[in-house]
Amino acid sequence: MDLGLAGRTCAVTGASRGIGRETALALCAEGANVLLVARDELRLREVQEEAVGAGLKAGGRAAVLALDVTTAEAGERILAVASEYFGGLDVLVNNAGSASWRDLDDVPDEDWRAQYELNVMAPLRAMRAAAPAMAERGWGRIVNVCSTAGKRPSAAMPEYSVAKAAELSLSRLFADRYAKTGVLVNAICPGPTESEMWMAPGGLLDQSREMSGAETREEALAEAGSKRPIGRLAAAEEIAGAIVFLCSERASYVAGAAWSVDGGTVQVII
Ligand SMILES: NC(=O)c1ccc[n+]([C@@H]2O[C@H](COP(=O)([O-])OP(=O)(O)OC[C@H]3O[C@@H](n4cnc5c(N)ncnc54)[C@H](OP(=O)(O)O)[C@@H]3O)[C@@H](O)[C@H]2O)c1
Repeated sequence: MDLGLAGRTCAVTGASRGIGRETALALCAEGANVLLVARDELRLREVQEEAVGAGLKAGGRAAVLALDVTTAEAGERILAVASEYFGGLDVLVNNAGSASWRDLDDVPDEDWRAQYELNVMAPLRAMRAAAPAMAERGWGRIVNVCSTAGKRPSAAMPEYSVAKAAELSLSRLFADRYAKTGVLVNAICPGPTESEMWMAPGGLLDQSREMSGAETREEALAEAGSKRPIGRLAAAEEIAGAIVFLCSERASYVAGAAWSVDGGTVQVII
């Protein structure tokens, strides 16, 4: 299937690792020009090198923007830098995120606010900057990477769950506003995924191990996997595959959706 992404310009936030990195590499391999956005410039440069390699055959290119997406001007900067490098912006993937496990009683106000900034204000500002320009060109795709926790709150991730639920609502608002203009806005809700968010030392795996009392990381991983109908965590490229499809020409009749890519974790069919 030709995804029709060759020559399209895409911005992916949180592209320095995990789901964002895999998404950027796959977009480049389809021949897209990709702006890689995150805070860690060194890691972005490494991904840029990989992306250029992945894009060689199809003509995909990659550029880097070191940026904290929670800053007030971040949305405008993403649009301006994508336009400067590649002449515009066709596709925006709001993927930057972070998470930790805590009890509802232990989350201070500043952490509730920080998750809201990262999952609501940052995608809002990026969409507010990018969507009108896409609409003017008559074509656009926006994918907001939310979470199963946004569909059904996770007791261990209270402020994250509430912010992701708000991000789903925000996605739907933009989808309704822009669908007629050719700009299609959708959300992806990943289940637990073996990115650094889970697997890095001190990440969600170690935190879940502490909470569950599992003896080893392997045991904690198997236990976390066993809670999903599919029996394991996702690989980052399994989430990226669904994101890339929603970014593509082929997703031309999908708008306002919140696709679960969670191995059956959230057990609803609608
Ligand atoms: N992994 C999971 O189990 C899972 C499940 C459901 C949903 N998700 C969602 O999927 C998305 C990607 O997660 P992941 O698993 O790939 O996590 P990850 O491996 O920890 O990567 C997170 C990415 O976000 C970037 N980032 C974080 N804060 C940022 C900020 N303020 N400004 C710019 N970039 C920022 C990080 O780069 P820098 O540190 O370089 O800035 C990194 O590139 C997130 O929205 C997450 O909530 C993940």
